[in-house]
Amino acid sequence: MTGAIDYRHVSILWASPEHAPELAQLHAGLFAKAWDADSFLRLLAHPGSTSFLARVGTPPQTAGFIVSQLAADEAEILTLGVRKDSQRHGIARRLVEAMARAAKNAEVRRLFLEVGQGNAAALGLYTGLGFKEVGRRKGYYEHPGAAPEDALVLALAL
Ligand SMILES: CC(C)(COP(=O)(O)OP(=O)(O)OC[C@H]1O[C@@H](n2cnc3c(N)ncnc32)[C@H](O)[C@@H]1OP(=O)(O)O)[C@@H](O)C(=O)NCCC(=O)NCCS
Repeated sequence: MTGAIDYRHVSILWASPEHAPELAQLHAGLFAKAWDADSFLRLLAHPGSTSFLARVGTPPQTAGFIVSQLAADEAEILTLGVRKDSQRHGIARRLVEAMARAAKNAEVRRLFLEVGQGNAAALGLYTGLGFKEVGRRKGYYEHPGAAPEDALVLALAL
């Protein structure tokens, strides 16, 4: 990202299917197993999609995203990421808070997500927001050439 960014000014916008290509591009820069634009298109077009983008800078550029799905009184965060050059400025926290507010307005009672047990950044973020461990999926994440990693299931009551 070019130029000095004032991170006090972060715009949080609803994400819709038209944003699928840029989310796929951002995701590919952050995760070893990239999700393609068609996968994002399907997720964002789902009626339960509760997904947001974070934009920063002038002109505004997308720096982060959260994709989640509501189903009855529960919601699942499916993916969340912030561009490497915009991390540690509170963008992910704002994205999760925006998603939690929208979910609460839709009468969701609990948020869930899965996170690698070694993902210190994400665990710090979620535990700081009050998420608690409610389960573990053994060997859930496969890493080529390395041992599989357990996923922790975290939940937050709204
Ligand atoms: C996890 C991730 C989304 C955090 O985004 P971010 O915008 O940098 O997070 P924030 O600035 O909102 O951080 C909020 C809190 O999370 C914790 N945190 C964030 N990054 C951290 C890190 N690298 N190490 C330790 N704690 C961290 C801190 O408690 C932080 O609060 P603080 O800055 O006041 O100390 C980002 O690191 C990322 O995109 N990682 C790669 C993709 C990923 O793992 N996604 C999550 C999948 S479940």
